[in-house]
Amino acid sequence: MILLNTMENIKITLKTIFGLEKVLKEELEELGYKQSEQLNRAVQLMGTWEDVYFLNLHVRCAICVLVELKTFKIRDEKDLYKQAMKIDWTSYFTSDKTFAVRGAVQSKLFSHTQYPYLLLKDAIVDVFRDKTGDRPDVSLKSPQVVFDLYIKEDFVTLSLNTSGAPLFHRGYRFEVGEAPMNEVVAAGLIRLSGWDKKSAFIDPFCGSGTILIEAALLAANIPSNIERVHYAFKNFKNYNEGLWEGIYHKANKRAETFDFPIIGSDIDSDMVLMAKRNLRGLPISRNVTISTAPFNEVKKPADKGTLICNPPYGMRIGENIEEMYAELGDWFKNELKGYSCWVISANEDALKHIGLKPDSKVKLYNGDLECSYRQYTIFDGFRRDAMHRDSTETI
Ligand SMILES: C[S@@+](CC[C@H](N)C(=O)[O-])C[C@H]1O[C@@H](n2cnc3c(N)ncnc32)[C@H](O)[C@@H]1O
Repeated sequence: MILLNTMENIKITLKTIFGLEKVLKEELEELGYKQSEQLNRAVQLMGTWEDVYFLNLHVRCAICVLVELKTFKIRDEKDLYKQAMKIDWTSYFTSDKTFAVRGAVQSKLFSHTQYPYLLLKDAIVDVFRDKTGDRPDVSLKSPQVVFDLYIKEDFVTLSLNTSGAPLFHRGYRFEVGEAPMNEVVAAGLIRLSGWDKKSAFIDPFCGSGTILIEAALLAANIPSNIERVHYAFKNFKNYNEGLWEGIYHKANKRAETFDFPIIGSDIDSDMVLMAKRNLRGLPISRNVTISTAPFNEVKKPADKGTLICNPPYGMRIGENIEEMYAELGDWFKNELKGYSCWVISANEDALKHIGLKPDSKVKLYNGDLECSYRQYTIFDGFRRDAMHRDSTETI
């Protein structure tokens, strides 16, 4: 049950965002993990601590990497504390490290949603007190060690959260725009689009540049987390620095010049500046071109390619969002023949004004907002159903 030996076989769970489970499984397959099980908002596999380090660095579509410690059934609230007291928490970390308990609870056994986390925290502190006379402090904001508690009715799963801060904290973002996109969502959108990583890529609403940066890192085969320094696994007792250093040094950090363009633009010059600053320190900075322009003035940089965009959802007063989405549809038809155009938006009504029938639709979340991600294939000659005005469809 200690599960700290780096060669031991352990159960690894990669948590993700609703709607990205399938692409996460595909990504894991490409990384060499042929055997994995797709769950709700997660994918599970068996591996070693070496895999845990490797996955934290390389996986783009996961929020965190968990290592299962123990599963058990409980009869009531107190049972959670009792069972957690049986675990030697001092074998995982030392009392000079701060910790936190996070996770998800779906159980009628608890009257208050935060209570199970409190019970587990108390058990961890009490085990430390009993065994060492000392106790670790809790840090809710930036804990060094994180435990994951998952309760489904009477079934409890306790895990080590080896990532700590979510993996969308890539370490490359210095500037945050008004409505920045979650980096894991951005990586997922690129995978869902099926972009071949060797043809033109456009984001004409690029904001702080998240989608463009994720696309360029993917095409260059550089891990999205190459700039990230913090991982909770570095604070566990079993941390093997040599093993981590080996994995980090093996990862590609250099980008060749691409023979296809990756271009982005935004109407707001401050956003363009922000995107350029975010790009600056990255090895792919020369592979991405960003400029200030309204989307409908952008010219396609090659005959074929992929466009992914996250236009405004229309939260601002006075914004004529329906007209903008209608113009976007017209621009796709007139300018982007040969392109696969993907739009993500939380504004279902506005999406209908694009006026083209989507070839596919995926439901996902960007933060707390439920979004629809839609593909519009614009054929070279004419669009198959160019005359079809899309006014009735729903997700
Ligand atoms: C939801 S944000 C995109 C966020 C971006 N994906 C990121 O990661 O930061 C929408 C962006 O569209 C830009 N925008 C609004 N109207 C535009 C227009 N007509 N043409 C181009 N960009 C526009 C805004 O300045 C804003 O940065």
